[in-house]
Amino acid sequence: MERTRLLTSFQDFGLADPISRALKEENYVTPTPIQSQTIPLVLAARDVVGIAQTGTGKTAAFALPILHRILEHRIKPQPKACRVLVLSPTRELSGQILESFNAYGRHMRLTSALAIGGVPMGRQVRSVMQGVEVMVATPGRLLDLVQSNGLKLGNVEFLVLDEADRMLDMGFINDIRKIVSKLPVRRQTLFFSATMPKDIADLADQMLRDPARVAVTPVASTADRITQRIVQVDHSAKAAFLAQLLQHEPVDRALVFTRTKHGADKVVKGLARAGISADAIHGNKSQNHRERVLAAFRSGQIRTLVATDIAARGIDVDGISHVVNFDLPNVPETYVHRIGRTARAGADGIAISLVAGGEEMSYLRDIEKLIRIALSREDRRTPGQREAVPAASQHRGPRSAPRVHGTRANDGAPGSKGPRRRRRPGGNNGAPQTNRHEGNRHEPMRPSSSSHGGGKAEGMQGVAFLHRESRPNTRPNRTQRPR
Ligand SMILES: Nc1ncnc2c1ncn2[C@@H]1O[C@H](COP(=O)(O)OP(=O)(O)OP(=O)(O)O)[C@@H](O)[C@H]1O
Ligand SMILES: [Mg+2]
Repeated sequence: MERTRLLTSFQDFGLADPISRALKEENYVTPTPIQSQTIPLVLAARDVVGIAQTGTGKTAAFALPILHRILEHRIKPQPKACRVLVLSPTRELSGQILESFNAYGRHMRLTSALAIGGVPMGRQVRSVMQGVEVMVATPGRLLDLVQSNGLKLGNVEFLVLDEADRMLDMGFINDIRKIVSKLPVRRQTLFFSATMPKDIADLADQMLRDPARVAVTPVASTADRITQRIVQVDHSAKAAFLAQLLQHEPVDRALVFTRTKHGADKVVKGLARAGISADAIHGNKSQNHRERVLAAFRSGQIRTLVATDIAARGIDVDGISHVVNFDLPNVPETYVHRIGRTARAGADGIAISLVAGGEEMSYLRDIEKLIRIALSREDRRTPGQREAVPAASQHRGPRSAPRVHGTRANDGAPGSKGPRRRRRPGGNNGAPQTNRHEGNRHEPMRPSSSSHGGGKAEGMQGVAFLHRESRPNTRPNRTQRPR
């Protein structure tokens, strides 16, 4: 764990003038903790593993120092090559990261390109013909581009894996290995995520060179400003309960997660029957539809978006007041990322999870173990269906207790049901995976590990996100009834 002087202003980093100007325009005044800790390390050419809660500005933590280093040594990119390669697990997130680079690099004539699946490759081939400084991609399409000789990776100076634990899990690791084997050994590598299971962290180490590890809070902490609620409800009553919830809660914008694509479509139909308009994005929708719907959700045209886990990681939409887990995810880290779509950049938010009995109760227990919070439960099941479940108030587990710094509270706990990382059955309902690479992959089966992550958290402080000055005025009044 690195100890670095905490920098409290973006000026302290000595970032190049075009970048500082862009930051002023973005209304970024104070660096967030992950930014103050990692930017100097990246500027000093270190490999970095950066872990911080959702919505705390990890994108700028890698993008700003990389842009500075590009400017420090500006060279014309080679044809069909890039200097910076950023990989992320979904098309939408890759697009969003590219936009962030372009926004922070707007005064430096940055050249950049996007390579994602689901759209024709011809334009992407043309966009890198002359070479670009920054390439953001999903792994599958990137490999297609390389294999068709549209792109060479021999000039990459910076590799970033955003959502690194997801990129190194079973869904992506083979593609990542292939990509990394084509990169120069001498490069700077940066891994970022809000979660980092120990087994994945070990794998990550093989791709890093003497990495600096920065973890602002213990791995897998849910963002502090999220109020989490668990509602126990019969499976058959979930649809009606959701409709009621959206009508009665003071919702600005709600993101509803389902475990399957079919489930997402069913929820949209159910809401329509209750007179609530909603739209869905998932891996069976065309890319065109996915982009159109996400844009409409960002602009506020769509108030309720139903999504599978393609929207769970990294997506930054201003003003999501509620995340609803219509189904609980079967991989506990996914819960942390899903609910992290609210309460971003210093805002607060509400996460409501509908939990039927049976396997969902065991998913819930896994989640509580991972985040070290006992979540309060509200029982709305029909009598007769109820089990005796002690209601606990929402409180963090003993974060400062020694085991947080060693192994997590749950690990190896008596009565724990075997490997926590094992994927639970029933994740996909047998739905075909149509897209080859990104978007539809389900969280993988991973070997169990006896000590999850805690060691990496040693000496970390929990530091709250600093407020962005421009935001409070733009937040709609949540005490109003839904529009
Ligand atoms: N220093 C800052 N001051 C104000 N706002 C910031 C600052 N840094 C980032 N933001 C804003 O915070 C929001 C969240 O940033 P970002 O998407 O990078 O979070 P993240 O840590 O990557 O989250 P996730 O784990 O969900 O991917 C964005 O809207 C971004 O513009
Ligand atoms: Mg992110």
